[in-house]
Amino acid sequence: MRAVLVGPPGAGKGTQAQILAEELSVPKVSTGDIFRANVSGGTELGKKAKEFMDRGDLVPDEVTNAMVKDRLAQDDATEGFLLDGFPRNVPQAQTLKGMLSDLGSGLDVVLELRVDEEEVVKRLSGRRSCPECGRVYHVEYDAPRSEGKCDNEGAELYQREDDREETIRHRLKVYREQTAPLVEFYAAEGLLATIAATGSVAEVTARAKAAIAEKRSAA
Ligand code: AP5
Repeated sequence: MRAVLVGPPGAGKGTQAQILAEELSVPKVSTGDIFRANVSGGTELGKKAKEFMDRGDLVPDEVTNAMVKDRLAQDDATEGFLLDGFPRNVPQAQTLKGMLSDLGSGLDVVLELRVDEEEVVKRLSGRRSCPECGRVYHVEYDAPRSEGKCDNEGAELYQREDDREETIRHRLKVYREQTAPLVEFYAAEGLLATIAATGSVAEVTARAKAAIAEKRSAA
């Protein structure tokens, strides 16, 4: 199963990717998570990415594409993957298509998560993440059992640098201008399935699973 999740910041891509990847037995490949791990590890890649991420801009395609190519070449991704946050513009989508075609494969489904912008601002301003396992919470909608601590290993939760309201608004603009055109691109490829990403996390997961199953049975 080779799948992509597309949607604005805060649509719940990371939340759903974690659940769906486990259910589909494929690795979750999140470009945002890989960049953040490199930023906190102080690597060359992290140094290149940080200024773009802090502003809410896209990291340049040549940096991002090379990173994804390396990740998808790892053993655990040869039979499938769930991409979260990549591709992010039409040139990245074309690069991905070329990468997969060189390996004799292609995508099975692109799942679009739809949610309105005011909901996004509410979700992102209350988001907290675990630095150890990457699990994402919300202070109100999906709170940890013990305030400020991860349910898995008790690590102190943190708030992302790019979750300030001004940066969230800029990320939404970048989404509208650069990422939203992917919806038409993948519709034309016959790969697109769209669901509403509102309601509880479990409701969105149920919709996502049904949409993926429908797309696969139609293929
Ligand atoms: P990235 O980490 O990919 O950020 P994003 O796309 O902006 O998405 P988010 O992680 O903010 O949101 P999400 O949709 O995953 O929502 P989540 O599940 O966390 O990218 C960060 C940066 O890295 C980019 O700005 C860019 O600089 C760079 N980058 C990454 N990929 C790149 C690429 N391909 N090219 C170039 N640059 C790239 O949920 C959000 C909150 O809502 C959480 O608190 C969650 O608990 C809550 N929530 C989730 N579902 C629900 C629900 N159903 N109801 C209520 N609350 C919910």
